Amino acid sequence: MAPPEPRPIVNAWNEWDPLEEIVVGRADNANFDPTEPGYRPVIRGTRSAGETFPTGPKAAETIARANEELDNLAALLESLDVTVRRPDPMDFGKPLSTPTFDVENQYCSVCPRDVVITLGNQILEATMSRRARFFEYLPYRRIIRDYWNRDPRVSWTAAPKPSMADDMYRTEFWEFSLDERFARMHDFEFCVTQEEPVFDAADITRMGRHLFVQESMTTNRPGIAWLRRELEPRGLRVHTLHFPLDFFPSHIDCTFVPLRPGLVLTNPDRPLKEEEAEFFAKNGWEFLDAPEASCSNDEMPRHCQSSRWLSMNVLSVSPDTVICEEAEHDLHRLLERRGFNVIAVPFRNVYEFGGSLHCATWDVRRSGDCEDYFTNLTDIPAGD
Ligand code: ARG
Repeated sequence: MAPPEPRPIVNAWNEWDPLEEIVVGRADNANFDPTEPGYRPVIRGTRSAGETFPTGPKAAETIARANEELDNLAALLESLDVTVRRPDPMDFGKPLSTPTFDVENQYCSVCPRDVVITLGNQILEATMSRRARFFEYLPYRRIIRDYWNRDPRVSWTAAPKPSMADDMYRTEFWEFSLDERFARMHDFEFCVTQEEPVFDAADITRMGRHLFVQESMTTNRPGIAWLRRELEPRGLRVHTLHFPLDFFPSHIDCTFVPLRPGLVLTNPDRPLKEEEAEFFAKNGWEFLDAPEASCSNDEMPRHCQSSRWLSMNVLSVSPDTVICEEAEHDLHRLLERRGFNVIAVPFRNVYEFGGSLHCATWDVRRSGDCEDYFTNLTDIPAGD
């Protein structure tokens, strides 16, 4: 009998199978996120005081501190026998002038999660939603070409690039008061219109055959329709998820984080819409609310645009081992009580570069195949 075919060198069907190969971001040449129609960065704790957000390159020490934590994560993963690759340097200070938009500078290559995702043997590059991130796939292209050259089973797809022209955005979104946002929470209309397909890869979470995509500031309904049309012929199912109480949703990995078959770490401030939650319950999945984060939103690093819920942005190296930020003791205890081994690493200096441990990585290969964990009920009743 012929020996079993080894799996393709690109192979990841979920967020938890044993990790074999991963890309870890790097902070070199990072710039502050510019203000643009799809984004309004603010300094922590000064939302009303009107202090202006800095522009241009981040300070060398800020970059060095983040790189130290990113390098430390890379070394830890290597010590666990995971192959680690790093993006190529790129000049993010370069302004862009394209036929449809201009932007004063770009951002960084700390968060590959936002840009590219592995779906089985397929590498999929997202459209992206912000001008400063339009070309963020470039630092990963050498790595992607290498996988694609080495294994003919690897498929490589780039989603159509949106115009990012002024009329792709609803700038009035930024002016709504919190009361207005509360009143409109079921409209799921954010800063991107519904004209062009738009999605960031980090709005997708993988659970075997079923993918779940959050409607957000960075992913619109045509973006999800594009994913469905692209992926369903490949045998995957694409479901839309909504978290009505998240008024600034962007990237699902601080909101809904699957840890192993049957268990999702959930955000107590951002419950999943009821009909959608029922779909998980009927398939025997349990939601485990994350404990309070170790600090308040105002105590997050001054230039960090993410919430304190970066606490739950964990990276699974297997169904029983999870890498967490070192300060999140309550989360460590909760996960340990549930039978997980927790590996704690410092990562707070990475926060202002767009995220934590899950955001700053792109898992390329995990052992394990495509399983169906939703056999009882296969559609979200509200027409997903
Ligand atoms: N919007 C999320 C929050 O503040 C942050 C998500 C970061 N995730 C990422 N993949 N960059 O809670």
